[in-house]
Amino acid sequence: MDTLLAIASRRDERRTLPEPLPDDVVSRLLDAGRLSGSSRNAQPWTFVVPTSRERIERLAEAVYVPENLRHAGLVVGILVSGKGPVLFDGGRAAQSMLLAAWAEGLASCPNGIKDADVARAALDAAEDETPVIVLTFGRPERPREAEARTVEEWSARANRKPIDAVVRRVA
Ligand SMILES: Cc1cc2nc3c(=O)[nH]c(=O)nc-3n(C[C@H](O)[C@H](O)[C@H](O)COP(=O)(O)O)c2cc1C
Repeated sequence: MDTLLAIASRRDERRTLPEPLPDDVVSRLLDAGRLSGSSRNAQPWTFVVPTSRERIERLAEAVYVPENLRHAGLVVGILVSGKGPVLFDGGRAAQSMLLAAWAEGLASCPNGIKDADVARAALDAAEDETPVIVLTFGRPERPREAEARTVEEWSARANRKPIDAVVRRVA
């Protein structure tokens, strides 16, 4: 999929089909995170994949919308550690994985963390590791075709502020 088309057409989808994603797909999504750039190439992240129902349920208690995790085909918690803009780096890795998923026709959504202590325990985080976000992925309940519209059409329909509201030119 064309990069700009993927960016323009992607939407966060909270409910997915619950069946687990194939291993090769999971590997590609995680590799998209691994390949992301980071400050000083520090790669301050760890991608935690809960594999048991019990572990996903514990993590679900840590996010704002637990249902998103219960219906996902893959859950990935992002931890970061170290100095510098590690939260920004974690965000870059998250967006890489989300876009890679959409390029495969998969739905996905970031899930904000309501209770950091519960998330840390559920993700087995070390002392110096901070949970950033929990990503959910899965096959979409209602598949959408990115190619059904142009970049311009997706852009015009997007529920986003107008470009003039978010760009300020300074001379
Ligand atoms: C940092 C971050 C945290 C988010 N947390 C949640 C969340 O806890 N629950 C949820 O349903 N969506 C969450 N979202 C998804 C946002 O609501 C979504 O990105 C926004 O509404 C735009 O959605 P759209 O791409 O479908 O237009 C989060 C997004 C970001 C970037």
